[in-house]
Amino acid sequence: MDVLSAIKNRKSTRAFIDKQVLPLTISNVLDTARWAPSGANTQPWKVAVATGGTKTNLCLALTGAFESSNPSNADYNYYANPIEEPYRDRQRRCGAALYGALDISRQDKQQRRAQWLKNYFAFDAPVILFIFIDRNLEKGSWVDMGMFIQNIMLAARGHGLESCPQAALAEYPDIVRSHLSITDKQSLICGIALGYCNTTAPVNQYRTEREPVDSFTSWHS
Ligand SMILES: Cc1cc2nc3c(=O)[nH]c(=O)nc-3n(C[C@H](O)[C@H](O)[C@H](O)COP(=O)(O)O)c2cc1C
Repeated sequence: MDVLSAIKNRKSTRAFIDKQVLPLTISNVLDTARWAPSGANTQPWKVAVATGGTKTNLCLALTGAFESSNPSNADYNYYANPIEEPYRDRQRRCGAALYGALDISRQDKQQRRAQWLKNYFAFDAPVILFIFIDRNLEKGSWVDMGMFIQNIMLAARGHGLESCPQAALAEYPDIVRSHLSITDKQSLICGIALGYCNTTAPVNQYRTEREPVDSFTSWHS
């Protein structure tokens, strides 16, 4: 697969088939991803791979926390609060596209909640990659992490895998750290659901939109 189609055709995948991913394949994905650039080659990434019983127990614990209405204690704020335009509108459209593909109306709170809950099982992907960074690193290293995370998702495509980056899996980082025996010195950035795409699932039938180049680019010569 060439790099342009890997980038253009990657999309967040929210339904997977029941097929395991070989540990060697996961390792190969990470072996490619580690070639991401980072400031002064500091390579700030840490990855914890959760599969099998560990993944199931962890997902049950995350689901339990959400269902008990435990407030999220994520290690960082993902969004500005309040989030302003044009970002708020894009966020709204993103949700509308997802629930539209699933034919779930705005009023159907029960179905929307049921769909949201699937986050905590990583949409039944067989693998979750939990992405950590040393707590004392700065914004520059968080920039590096974005490149690493994108590399994972692109390398996955090269192995016939699809993915979904998930901040939802980082809402209860203490639960994740305790299940994976990870020190509190590591901040949890996100989880990445990884597996083979269920190509017929309605949730995988839509693409999110993007703003045109002219809307975010100015030329200076
Ligand atoms: C760091 C990060 C966290 C995300 N968290 C979630 C999440 O918790 N649940 C989810 O369904 N999608 C999540 N997404 C996916 C975004 O909604 C998705 O990337 C966006 O709508 C663009 O769609 P695309 O990935 O299909 O191109 C996340 C994306 C990123 C980059």
